[in-house]
Formats: sequence, C-alpha cells, structure tokens
Amino acid sequence: MGEVTPIRFSETVSARLENGVLVVTIDNPPVNAASADMRSGLLAAIRHAGTEDAARAVVVTGAGKTFVGGADIKEFGQPGTEPILPEVVDAIEKCSKPVVAAINGPALGSGLEIALACHRRIASDTATLGLPEVKLGIVPGAGGTQRLPRLVGVAKAVELIAAGRSVAAGEALSLGIIDQVVAGNPAAGAVAAARDLASQPLRRTGELALPAEDPQVIDEAADKALSRARGRAAPAEAVRLVRRAGERSLAEGLADERATFLRLRDSDQAKALRHVFFAERAAAKVPGLEGVEPRMVQTIGVVGSGLMGSGIAVSALNAGYRVIVVEQNAEAAEKGFDRIAGLLDRAIKSGRIDAAGRAERLQRLSVGSDLEALAAADLVVEAVFDDLDVKTKLFEKLDKIVRPDAILATNTSYLDPDAIAAATSRPERICGLHFFSPAQVMRLVEVVRCAKTNPEVLATGIAVARRLGKLPIVCGVCEGFIGNRIFSAYRREAEFLVEDGAWPQEIDAAMEDYGFAMGPFAVFDLAGLEIAWARRKRQAATRDPSQRYVEIADRLCEMGRFGQKTGRGWYAYPDGKRTVDPEVTAVIEACRKAKGIAPRQVSSGEIVSRLLAAMAAEGDALLAEGIAERASDIDLVIINGYGFPAHRGGPMYVAKEGLRP
Ligand code: 3HC
Repeated sequence: MGEVTPIRFSETVSARLENGVLVVTIDNPPVNAASADMRSGLLAAIRHAGTEDAARAVVVTGAGKTFVGGADIKEFGQPGTEPILPEVVDAIEKCSKPVVAAINGPALGSGLEIALACHRRIASDTATLGLPEVKLGIVPGAGGTQRLPRLVGVAKAVELIAAGRSVAAGEALSLGIIDQVVAGNPAAGAVAAARDLASQPLRRTGELALPAEDPQVIDEAADKALSRARGRAAPAEAVRLVRRAGERSLAEGLADERATFLRLRDSDQAKALRHVFFAERAAAKVPGLEGVEPRMVQTIGVVGSGLMGSGIAVSALNAGYRVIVVEQNAEAAEKGFDRIAGLLDRAIKSGRIDAAGRAERLQRLSVGSDLEALAAADLVVEAVFDDLDVKTKLFEKLDKIVRPDAILATNTSYLDPDAIAAATSRPERICGLHFFSPAQVMRLVEVVRCAKTNPEVLATGIAVARRLGKLPIVCGVCEGFIGNRIFSAYRREAEFLVEDGAWPQEIDAAMEDYGFAMGPFAVFDLAGLEIAWARRKRQAATRDPSQRYVEIADRLCEMGRFGQKTGRGWYAYPDGKRTVDPEVTAVIEACRKAKGIAPRQVSSGEIVSRLLAAMAAEGDALLAEGIAERASDIDLVIINGYGFPAHRGGPMYVAKEGLRP
C-alpha cells in the first residue's frame, strides 16, 4: 500500500496521494456542481499535481453518486467569480501529468467538459454522460462543442448537443466518448490506468483532428436538429459551433463558444428554462408527504386497452413492471394485445428497443378478460370510457377483487374521482393518475389527491409515475384538474377572439409563431370536438345566461364537423392537409352577425396576450381554490401536457415576469 495523505484544496475539493497518484475528489452535494469553490479547488489540485514530484498522475472523481452534475445553475444570473470553468478545463488538458476521469455517476454539462479535458475516461456502468445545456437555453461553455466532435465526429456531436441528449455508459463507450466501462466504482481502475499512462505520451482531446466524415451526413444531422428547435435559440448556436469546430483552431472555437454561452446565459429564453428546471425540482416536494415512504409496486394492472390503456401498459412495461391488462371480453383483449405489441414494434423501428427487449417486455405482460386476474396487482389504473356510471360500477367490482393494500387509480379527465372513490370500501386507497395521450410518449401525469387519499397512496402514485419516466404533478379535485381547466379557459378565449374578428387560422399562426407546437384550433380538431360539445350540452341548463357564450363550435358539431377524424372541423383536411374551409368561414360570419358583432382586425400580439392572460387568470383561480400547489406546477402542466413552449416559461411565469409577446 502506498502513502495516504489527505490534502484540502477548497471546501469542496480534496485529494489524497495513492501509490503516486493524486486522487482528487469533488464533494459538493447534492450533485457536485461546478460552483466557484469547486472550480478554485479543482484548479488548485491540478496545479499542485503539476508541481508535486510525488504525484506522477492524477485521478479526478466525484463523491457520492454523481461525478459532476454540471455548472452550478444557481450561480447563473449572478456576477461571475474566478476562476471560470474554461480556465480549469484548460489546466486539466494541459497538465504535464496524466489526468484520468473516474466517472462514478452522471457527468453532465461541465461535468462532461471536465472529463473530456482529461487524458483518459473510465466510467461506471451506471454513469450517464451528456451536454444538456440547450435544455437550459445555453450552449456548453467550457469546450463541450469543440472537444466532443473531436471524439465522436461532427454529425454525432450535433445530434447529441443540439438535443441535449445524454447517453448511458455503454453507448458512450461505443461512440468513443469514454475509454472504458467498469462495474461499480471506477476509482481503483482509474488509479491503475493513471499509473500506466505516466510513462506514455498524453492524448489531449483538444489536439485531436476531427474524424473524416461525409458532409451530407453532417448536413442531415444539422437539418434534423434545427427542425426540432422551434423558436429556441440555443440549438442553432450549438449546431453552428460544432460545425465550425473543424474549420478553425481550438482556441478560436473555444473563444466563440464562451462568448455565445455568456450571451445566451443572460437571455430571456435561458431565464425561462431555468425557471422550468427549478419548477421541476420544486414539484417533487409535495407538502404533507415529508418522510412518507411509497409502497413497493411490482405489478401494475390496467383496465381497458384502448389508446390510453395500451399506452399506459407500454409505459409500465418499459419501466420494468409486470403488467396485467384486462378488457371486457376475449375479442377486445386480443385487440388490446395487438395494440400493445404494435406500439412495441414501433419502438423497435425507431431504435428505442430491440427484438430481445420486445420479447422480454411481452413476457411480463398478460392480457385477458377476467377482472379477477387483478388480484395479483399492487396498483390498478383504470382507463375505460369516461363515464361516471361505467367507472363507479368498475370500482365497485375492483374493490372486491384487489388486495386490501392495493391502490386503485382512475385516469378520468373530467369526472369527480371522489364520487368514484365513494363506490368502494377504501376511498383512502384511491387516487387519480391522469395520463396524457399518447401515454407512452407524453411526460405529464396529474396525480390527483382525492378528499380521502392516504399520503402513502399519493406518494406511491408519484413514485410509480416517476419510475415510468413521467413528470408527476400533484393536484386537487375539480372538473378538469389543472390542465383541462386551463385548457377550457384557453378554448373559451380563443372562441371569443374568433367572434371578435380573428380567424382560426390567424389565431393558430400567432400561437405557433409564439412557439406552440400547434395552435388551439388545430389542437381542437386533432383531439375531436365532440367531447367538449357533450360537456357544453350537459352544462347548458345551469349556465349563467349573462356569461358570454360562443355558439360557433356547436354549429360546427351540428354539421357533423368533429375534427380531423371526420375529415372536417374548424378546418377541412383534403389529403390530410389542414385547409381553411369557406363553409366554416360562413358559419363564423353568421354567428357574429346573429349577435350583432362587427368584426375587427385583431393583431397577433393581442391574440397571444389575451390567450396567455386567460390561462394565467384560470391558473390564479386554481391556486386560490387550492387545486394547484404552486404557480410553477401550473407552468409545468401546460408545458408538458399542452405544447406550451418551455423556453417561454409557462403562462404563470409570463404573467409574473410581465413578459410581452
Ligand atoms: N446546479 C445547481 N443545482 C443543481 C444542479 C446544477 N447543475 N443540478 C441539480 N441541482 C440541484 C437540484 O436543484 C436539486 O436541488 P434541491 O434538492 O434543492 O431541489 C438537487 O440538486 C437534486 O437534483 P435532482 O432532484 O435533479 O437529483 P437527481 O439525483 O434526480 O438528478 C442530476 C441528478 C442527473 C445531476 C440532475 O439534477 C440534473 O440533470 N441536473 C442538471 C444537469 C444540467 O443541466 N447540467 C448542465 C448545467 S449547465 C452547464 O454545465 C454549463 C457549462 O457548459 C459551462
């Protein structure tokens, strides 16, 4: 055994000499972020290694389960503190002695940039590596855009950096980002590797020539990345920086990267995306659940295998659960199985799973028509037709079948889950799990805390949603929960705008320009107009006659125009293409005339302002009623469930910051 001499370089960085290798440990909980203290400690450690004869090589690693989770995002927006990260990274790369990164867990953003500057990278098989900066509205600021392409090529670097996609250790190895993967902690292997390297020439990433590539492949990667950027500035800047990596010196590339990073860091988009980042962390802290442990869930039951049920089943299979799907009869069960198998086939085609992964998932799946099979489930999600009678009858039956400690969750969109819970002898074991379609893709799940939901049941609902890779947002009971309540207000205001004089296509264009994936009328047509129509008819008897009510959508429904699936709705869809239909124009004009409204020109600024204000006002009501816990939860719902552009921060953020379209 060699000597073990602890040396402290800063609050968060210390080292010990092990067999002639200086093992530098970053210990900055919770994620070893590259804070000012960490940067100065790491720089001091590298400088020390350079001059200390007893140290023949260096290993850099992280304490705990993370290598380095990135720059300290909390420092963004504050005055900069020396040393800046590029200086630290430069010192690592230029160090005269070998520096080996022992990547013990996530190496993200600055974390990967530090690792890229090291002369060898050894990662644990559990590590993930990536440059997620664009998700924060910025580009990597310490060499990521210049060093990654030198290892993986421009096309691959464009794909990874412009999407902010992280990769697991295995993929990182096959791409050449890292040199070795080991089971468990990589520190011991890194020390041995560092000693070996001491007698060899150093491989400095920044000095490598870029791999030769077909320019067409690069163009395709860039086009694909840019087509997904939709109004966000960072991906385009990332593409530009990576593409130019091969055309100029490392120093020039780094200078441009740093200037771009600083410019974007102070932009409105980056501020909004930081709000979203911290909103997601805040959403994970649910009042009343402190110290409450979720129950272990291994088997998930799903009742119903339509679009929603099959999507939920696939999500659960992807997350490693055993899944029992129950349908009304054998024929429906067979169709359900085919639907689930079809979704898995699609996942193979898009490269997300392989044939073995599909087979393994199907082994964990059973689909049948006997509700009794659900006796084995720890949690059952109901995804049947959204009708109170149907759902209460089902819950009565399930109550007699599932174990007393099992959880029953309803996926209702508009019904009262308390009424559903009341049909059982265990209302405390019932919660809502409101998925969004397609459930295997959409990240949002509203976890509904019903009047009697037990904290452990709520915690379990949240934990399961998280394991499915979803973003769970807790909400209380009201018609439509958070998302659909706000969506109704949005719909109402969009229809007011039409009555006032804006055309649906103008409203859609304004919202799409603002950054929405689709404008409201295109969304209505996609989702179908009949459900909202049925609700309006139900509410007609109790509607306040003094409230403004727009009849245009009713007229369209009376004409059988239920949206895309009938080929006609707010638009016509000849050959599937969204087209303005003179018949709709005539209906709108007639409805305006019947109310004596003289249509006026409505600017796109007014359209966006009014729609955002309507959403924020409904959000305020949800907060006042205690349905939503915090304004930022509402932003997350609307961003992740309804296509609100994340780089705008959400309707509540826009209102609070007083941002104008
Ligand atoms: N800076 C500051 N705080 C951070 C942080 C960061 N980079 N990353 C995470 N945190 C905080 C979270 O806010 C949270 O704080 P809280 O407990 O007070 O709410 C805490 O760390 C734990 O975070 P998670 O709940 O996300 O922990 P997980 O264990 O689930 O995940 C992680 C860990 C994978 C590292 C995840 O936190 C993550 O993805 N972090 C962000 C990574 C990122 O975007 N890095 C890039 C930063 S930009 C950059 O590096 C610029 C550079 O190029 C110059």
